[in-house]
Amino acid sequence: MPDIRCIGICTGGGDAPGLNAVIRAAVKAAILKYKWKVIGISDGFDGLIWPEKSRELTLKDVSGILPRGGTILGTTNRGNPFHYKMVENGQEVTRDISDQVIANALKLGIDAVITIGGDGSQKIALDLFQKGMNIVGVPKTIDNDLSATEVTFGFDTALHTATDAVDKIHTTAESHHRIMVVEVMGRDAGWIALEAGIAGGAHVILIPEIQFTVENICKYVTEREGYGKRFTIVVVAEGIQLPPELKENRRAGSVGNLVGDAIALRAHKEVRVSVLGHIQRGGSPTPFDRILATRFGVAAVDLIAAGGFGKMVCLQQERIRAVDIAQAVGRLKTVDPQGEIVRAARAIGICFGD
Ligand code: F6P
Repeated sequence: MPDIRCIGICTGGGDAPGLNAVIRAAVKAAILKYKWKVIGISDGFDGLIWPEKSRELTLKDVSGILPRGGTILGTTNRGNPFHYKMVENGQEVTRDISDQVIANALKLGIDAVITIGGDGSQKIALDLFQKGMNIVGVPKTIDNDLSATEVTFGFDTALHTATDAVDKIHTTAESHHRIMVVEVMGRDAGWIALEAGIAGGAHVILIPEIQFTVENICKYVTEREGYGKRFTIVVVAEGIQLPPELKENRRAGSVGNLVGDAIALRAHKEVRVSVLGHIQRGGSPTPFDRILATRFGVAAVDLIAAGGFGKMVCLQQERIRAVDIAQAVGRLKTVDPQGEIVRAARAIGICFGD
């Protein structure tokens, strides 16, 4: 068993509800179960580039943070120490400062690091592990697209927020007899759109995994009108593949607006668009996310105690396990277009635009 006296914790990439719950659980388990000291590393790995930004975390520091969104440590999605962007002589240059990061961790007395992050942060963790750092990962993302774990914390909270939005859109859509488009996050995976669409009773769901056409959506709107339904709710994932006629405008605005405008033009209907954006990343984590985050935080500390470096905790068949980070990164988990959940949605008449 490794001789551990002090661990560091950092949060990297986009924030997700439940990060503070992981930090709290890890700090409590480290102090209460193992009597270790804990250092909070600020703003991703920036706290190891500038070690003066890092600070000790005591039980008092994590008191009351369980229901809080965001991360008390701060985060960044730009601080890869292997490709660090800096300005030298007025020029932006990219440098590998990973040696400095490892040296600073040692200087701070850190024996092992817990890195809480998505695919990008876990890749950095893997590279640092391969350079000799004792590191374990905790998966995080509202997109739920990490293949090694059945669920990531943050997803359930984002799903609740998106579902609540679709519920609210319902009444106004029905009152005004409108087509309402709701754009949700999820990067290249359609999980938030698919599940919020089903949970919120949407009529059309557009996801990156299924190619749609505007014509098919309009046909479906007309069919609905045929049986007296004068409103339609369309949930759009931000990562959808746009049909060729809309592709060139992708940069001009959100995909929700592009799809909404195209439907309005073709169907001659009134369309309104809501882009949910970062509210999906905020707010208090749901009980599910708080519990999963707590289990992950404790498991990460236990993994360090057992010397399981280079591994990431995960949820498989409802049990907390650990996988090699090398096996966990670079393989995104996307929606299976032929899978049971899509088939269930189709069976209740939901249109995917294909
Ligand atoms: O990965 C989480 C996520 O919220 C994605 O759903 C979204 O595409 C992206 O991050 C947004 O990132 P940023 O906060 O940098 O705009």
